[in-house]
Parts: sequence; structure tokens; C-alpha cells
Amino acid sequence: MTRLKPVLSLFDAVNVALGSIIGAGIFVIIGAAAGLAGPAVFLSVIVAAIVAILTGLTSAELSKKFPTSGGAYIFAKKALSKSVGFVVGWVWLFSNVVVGATVAVGFAYYLNFFIPSIPTNIGAALAVGLATLFHLMGTKESSRVNNILVVIKIAILLFFFVSAIFFFQQANFEPLLPFGIEGVLAGAATIFFAYSGFARVAVIADEIKNPSKNVPKATILSIIVSTAIYVLVAVAAVGIAGYEMLARSGSPLADAINMEGLGFGADLVGAGALVATGTVILASILGVSRLAYTMANNRELPKFITRLDKKQVPKNSIIVSGIGMIILALFADLPHIAYISSFSLLLYYAALNLSGLKILKGKTRYAAFLGLISCLVLMLSLPALSWIVGLVVVLLGIVYYKFFVK
Ligand code: ALA
Repeated sequence: MTRLKPVLSLFDAVNVALGSIIGAGIFVIIGAAAGLAGPAVFLSVIVAAIVAILTGLTSAELSKKFPTSGGAYIFAKKALSKSVGFVVGWVWLFSNVVVGATVAVGFAYYLNFFIPSIPTNIGAALAVGLATLFHLMGTKESSRVNNILVVIKIAILLFFFVSAIFFFQQANFEPLLPFGIEGVLAGAATIFFAYSGFARVAVIADEIKNPSKNVPKATILSIIVSTAIYVLVAVAAVGIAGYEMLARSGSPLADAINMEGLGFGADLVGAGALVATGTVILASILGVSRLAYTMANNRELPKFITRLDKKQVPKNSIIVSGIGMIILALFADLPHIAYISSFSLLLYYAALNLSGLKILKGKTRYAAFLGLISCLVLMLSLPALSWIVGLVVVLLGIVYYKFFVK
């Protein structure tokens, strides 16, 4: 395999992560999280950030030891066993397909904000279809385009915050904790989805300058930047609209600002949501197709997935990933699919921390231990449905490994 050239600076690397992080979580799922946590949803955002930072530290340390693409799948293979590594890769594929479909539903909700006649599931499937075609054309997302898109989405979220200052109502924060600490934890488990993507830099370590320093820095910086933006937006959204309205809406940020009669502002926020969710859909398809390709090359998935086209694009892998997401997007409904996304993400991050616990030493081992416990606590705060789906996926993975992988 040809190693890619290290061309990305620390700034570019942080933007690669922010490109995959900021999407449906803050623009859509924040509503479901507010329904669970109440006005204290900003505390949920902070709790989820702590879990993400602990896991991010472990991921960054492990990527220094095993600097090849594959992330948690490779770590678990090396630290635990080949079969556990397979199941972790399997869960990773599943969770990223579900994340992609969830983000696509988020995209469709905001599309509905502009064109109410498009049914949500159709809009979501179309968005995935277009993103799949984009990847099949072999279009490389240049880091400059990514940097611009990240600046646009952050600028629009900051615009939301600044506009909210003029309509802020402190009364919306009373009582702060109507559903207690349990509500805050359930909200944190749900909004954890909004941080998914922070491990992306570790996966493209080869392309980053001075990776042993810049990969951990970019991972942590991207979580800190997104946390700061998410806290501001969560406080602002509750401050202008109240948590109940956010919980009822599919496009909560645009609806919140629309309530104040700022039609232009709502359109701007809606457009920002389309940009943000669109880029995360692209990132999800890219991630799933590349990991499926790696696993198929290791003879753990059917051979046809390894086929490359003339431009060296793993087209079958992209098509299978896209079809999986389209099927889910056609039938998915929020917030259930968001719970399942968060659960499966936490499950493989738990496995990542377990790998860290097994092989890291010193302070980083504590991070892995705390990361593991915190992932488990958040998983326990999610509804039974997400546990059932998660366990069925793990069981299917074990059965597949036993019968089809030599
Ligand atoms: N973190 C990504 C998002 O919020 C999945 O869209």
C-alpha cells in the first residue's frame, strides 16, 4: 500500500475532525437531549464532552503505537484478540451506517424547513444517494474546501448564539433540573452522538505532519472547540425557545430563531444545518467504505468489497455502504435511531478504552479506565431498545465470524 504524504498542518487536522463532528448532533439531536435533560441540557453537553475527551486521549495514545488506518478495529485486534477485533470492526461499521442515516434524517428535517412537501425519509435517502455518487466519482475532499465549510458552520452557530442574546429569557431555566441528574445523564448519552468524529484524525495519521504530536493535539482541540460551541448554542437555544419547544422540533435551532421573527436568521441557520449535516454524511460514507475495504482485504468480509475501479476508488465498498445507509434512512425515525447511534458508538469506544487499559501504561492507562467506565455509565442511561439492537448486532458479528471468517 502506498503511504500518503504528510501535508496537513495542525490547523487542517483540527478542521478535518470538526468537519466530521459538527452536524446533526447540535442542529437536531440537541432537541431530543433537551427533552430528556430539561434546561440543563448544556450540562449534558459537558458530561458527554468529558467522556469524549477521555476516549479521545486513549485513541490518540493507541494511534501513536499503531499508526495504521482502522482505528479501534486495529487497536482491539492487537490488544485483545483477532476475533474481538473483528467484532469491534463490525460494530464500528454498524454504528457509522446508523450515524450516517441519522445525520441524513437530520438533513431532511432541515430540508423540510425550506421545502415542507418532501417526505423526511425520502429526503434522507436522496441525501445519502447523492453523497454516495459523489464518492463514486472519486472526488477528493480537498482540505481547503473542508476548512471553508468548517468556518461556515461555526460562523453560523456563533451567529445563532449572538442573535439569541437579544431574546434571552432567564425564566426558561427555571427549574433547571426538572428530570434530575438522571435526566442530565440520559441527555448526555443522547448528545454524545454530537462528538462522534473526533477519532477521525487518528485514522488519517499518515497525512498529518508530525503525527505523534499533532494527532493527539488535534483530537483534544477539536473536542474542546466543539464543546465550547455546543455549550453556547445549548444555553442560547433554551434561553430563547425553552426546552419543551426544542424537544418537539425536528429543526430546533431554525425554529427557535424563527419564533423571534428573524426569518432571515432562521434561513441562515437552516442553510448552516444543511452544510453541516451534508459534510458529515460524506464523512460517514467515506469512513464506512474504507473500513469495510480494510476488513475485506483481511478476508473478514466478502471479497467483492475489495474491488477497486480505474481511479483506485473502492467502488463496491462505497456502494454497499451507501445502500445500507439508504435502507436505514428510508425507515428510520428520530429519536430512536439517535439512541441506537449513540449506543453503538459508546460500545465501540468502550472496546477502544478496553484495548487501552490492556496495553497503555502510566497516566494514559487511567484515562482508558475512566473512559471505559464513563462509556458504560452513559450506555446504561440509554433506553432498552438501544441495548437490544446493540446486543443483536454483536451476536450477529460473532455468528458471522464463526461461520464465514477463516
Ligand atoms: N457528530 C456528528 C454529528 O453530530 C455525527 O452529526
